[in-house]
Amino acid sequence: MKTTRRGFVGTLALGAAASAVSSATLFGRKAQAQTVEAHKTGIYDGGVMQLNQNESARGPGPNTMQAIHTHTTKRVGRGYSPDHVNELRQSLADNYNVGTENVQLATGSTPLLQGSVRAFCGEGKKFVTPMPTYSTSLSTARSLGIETVELDLTRGLAVDLDTLADNAPAGMLYLCNPNNPTGTVHGPDAVEGFVRRVMRDHPDTMIHIDEAYINYADPGAMETALPLALEFENVFITRSFSKAHGLAGMRIGYALGQEQTLSAIRRAWGMGDVNMLGAVAALTALNDKEHIEWERQENAEIRDYVVGAFREMGCEVPDSHTNHIFVNIGRPAAEFRAACLEEKILVGRDFPPLEQSHCRISLGSREEMQKAVEVFRKVLS
Ligand SMILES: Cc1ncc(COP(=O)(O)O)c(C=O)c1O
Repeated sequence: MKTTRRGFVGTLALGAAASAVSSATLFGRKAQAQTVEAHKTGIYDGGVMQLNQNESARGPGPNTMQAIHTHTTKRVGRGYSPDHVNELRQSLADNYNVGTENVQLATGSTPLLQGSVRAFCGEGKKFVTPMPTYSTSLSTARSLGIETVELDLTRGLAVDLDTLADNAPAGMLYLCNPNNPTGTVHGPDAVEGFVRRVMRDHPDTMIHIDEAYINYADPGAMETALPLALEFENVFITRSFSKAHGLAGMRIGYALGQEQTLSAIRRAWGMGDVNMLGAVAALTALNDKEHIEWERQENAEIRDYVVGAFREMGCEVPDSHTNHIFVNIGRPAAEFRAACLEEKILVGRDFPPLEQSHCRISLGSREEMQKAVEVFRKVLS
């Protein structure tokens, strides 16, 4: 169900006192309870609203919180062969109907991004990426002196899959789907066409598909590229528990792909040790499908409201399938950021080459975004 702007604000205003038992109101109550819980437990820092890092505004769901509490016992003193880590790996394998050898855990997906550049790029094996996109792999390549190629997005701010494929052969092509920061997404046919073209013409090129935001995509907008990762040794995907699962502070991510591909990444760079509580939390969050669906819907309603408000102000915003939006504010992001910070709201960093016109805004809770939209109106008026 879509909430109109009036409905959205109305839900906020009525809150728990609302007597109509519409699904919108119930939705609002659950959202409020989770926001209150997030405030109580200190997810917000120093009075500054943090709309800059794409973490979940609501943190982990209630079942995950309960699991963390339950497992916070003296048992954490026994950590060298941490309970639940193998269980998490097995559960991921079961969820995707693959073997455990097709799952590589890491302390966040960051080590996988860093390790894959080390494993697959180098002398004569360039790293190719659209820009702007998530830039950890690019920074890794730069720090190692690897040749890098940065490609423009399409006019609609989507990743240009044809141009990306045109740049093979390469050590590795990076595709963030949905894309951070623009929020744009490619459907399964487009991704499959891209992968098959590269694998046919340049089978030595690696393709990394980063699906960190997949749980925020609108239903039907995309599908995981896992079948392609299982079919081709040179394709792998990465996922994160830092976004819709609300576990950024627990540092858990994973890659899915063929065994030898994952082992090459593992050999190139340390993946860290996933810890016992993190594993329990991730295991619970992974299997709490109802909560993830709630989180997706909650984020989508907030996103509709904020995107609608910006469009009303005359700002272009590509349709987003993530928990952030990329807005054409028609002025340097640094200027907008400074003005918002005066009002105690921190928005996203510069995203070259669009830093003179666009700003990324991570989506907070309903209450936060209602306040934030007022500030954005004031700053942009
Ligand atoms: C697209 C994308 N991939 C990977 C990451 C890394 O996240 P983590 O290391 O927390 O899994 C992020 C974090 O913002 C991201 O936006």
